[in-house]
Amino acid sequence: MRELLQIFPELRTWVQTLDLEQTHRLRQSFEKIPFQEWQALKILSQQVFKKKSLSAKRWTQPPCFMLQDRQIQSTLWQQAESRGMQHLRHGKVAALTVAGGLGTRLSFPGPKGLVPVTPLKRKTLFQVFAEKLRAIERLHGVRMHWFIMTSSDTHEATQEAFQKNHWYDTQYLHLFQQGVLPAFTMDGMCLLTHEPGVNYYPDGHGGVFKALVSTGCVDKMSAYGIETLSYFQVDNPLVCIGDCNFLGLHLNRMSDFSTKVVTKTSTDEKVGVFVNKGDVLQLMEYSEIPGYLSVKKTKDGQLYFKLGNTAMHLIQRSFLEAMAEKKLPIHTTYKAMQYWHPLLQSHCSASCQKLEYFIFDALPFAKNPLLLEVDRKEEFSPVKNGHGQDSLDTCVKDQINRWNRWFANCGLNVDLGDKAINNAHRLEISPLFADDYVSFKKMWNALVVKPNCFENLYLE
Ligand code: UD1
Repeated sequence: MRELLQIFPELRTWVQTLDLEQTHRLRQSFEKIPFQEWQALKILSQQVFKKKSLSAKRWTQPPCFMLQDRQIQSTLWQQAESRGMQHLRHGKVAALTVAGGLGTRLSFPGPKGLVPVTPLKRKTLFQVFAEKLRAIERLHGVRMHWFIMTSSDTHEATQEAFQKNHWYDTQYLHLFQQGVLPAFTMDGMCLLTHEPGVNYYPDGHGGVFKALVSTGCVDKMSAYGIETLSYFQVDNPLVCIGDCNFLGLHLNRMSDFSTKVVTKTSTDEKVGVFVNKGDVLQLMEYSEIPGYLSVKKTKDGQLYFKLGNTAMHLIQRSFLEAMAEKKLPIHTTYKAMQYWHPLLQSHCSASCQKLEYFIFDALPFAKNPLLLEVDRKEEFSPVKNGHGQDSLDTCVKDQINRWNRWFANCGLNVDLGDKAINNAHRLEISPLFADDYVSFKKMWNALVVKPNCFENLYLE
């Protein structure tokens, strides 16, 4: 208790009122985090609103393998595909999903992975990913291990849903929980619970490095011969998990950490952007980039920093392991939070400081990081908000338009017109039928009896 009071002397009077059992509980809760870390966190929490001054003089657009480069460098592209395919087929790739977040912004009362997202069958995000992995197995003859990071907020419900629905072979499914960090009031007091104890919160997706090591997942990966992780967020049902071209480019470059990017559509799109600071690739998060930089344009009127983060990465296992030893910076967000106020002896709600690690802060440590531009319409439509941009509505529309486009590209009678969704048929194609246009065309041509009505068509 001496150490706790050293950091939070303002709690002394209250602590003296606790009985033995309560004191013990509080101490145990406080000791989840080493003392030195508490000291550093306390200092951080006292720097409220103090932003690092950002000198943008040396910031430039980083090199990126753009969509148009694929035609110009087609040999490089094809060689990459065959190398990536070999790697995948030898079982050296696993999937890694960060799913510690709740569907709060969607007013969904549970893990975001359980949000129903497909237009007809209302499959959840987790089910869609599971089907994508099973499709990879059909195509490449390899069952991939799937590591899912949950948080104290999402673990139980996620586990229950997988047990109940049998979406994926349990021997290949590995749920592990991320770590925690305390939160602070604006005047630097850590948030407490009534029990009494410290109120801990998920430590951000950057907690993935430490969590993979501390839960023994990295050892499992090593035992299974996994060398590369195909990392994605829980919110994007268009993700291509087993992209052999991307894998091959990543391996050929001997990259530790590669990312798919999309061209940012507008200054207010909520995606982080990649910048080179000197020679070092970094990500500027949308909530932290100075306004004048996010609106900076090129001579032809395009956004200067336009390489938007899709959060689809390939990461080497060896790099994951090395990063678990490193100290990542902590980001502070300010949000309304509820907590127990020991001095007032009541529950309070106020704007507080939430602390998080971000995975992309590992980038400056990565060897040969690679950026690859992908077609947003085919691969990126995250579900973030209840309405408007990046909502369930836009995501369903994007899925429908994608599948209608596949039909249209096959010369079938689907009029996508200018307004796309208005002319598009409401249909659904399971990844088990096809998860990209090339496989779709093959599967469709092979169908002996072809459906002749597209509306409400479901293919699996
Ligand atoms: C994120 C990226 C942004 C990117 C965009 C693409 C961050 C900080 N920013 O924004 O650069 O352009 O996605 O869609 O991530 N998660 C955990 N544990 C946590 C916190 C989050 O597992 O403690 C998971 C969530 O479940 C989700 C992912 O991390 O899968 C992203 O979190 P979210 O808060 O939705 O990030 P965005 O602000 O949307």
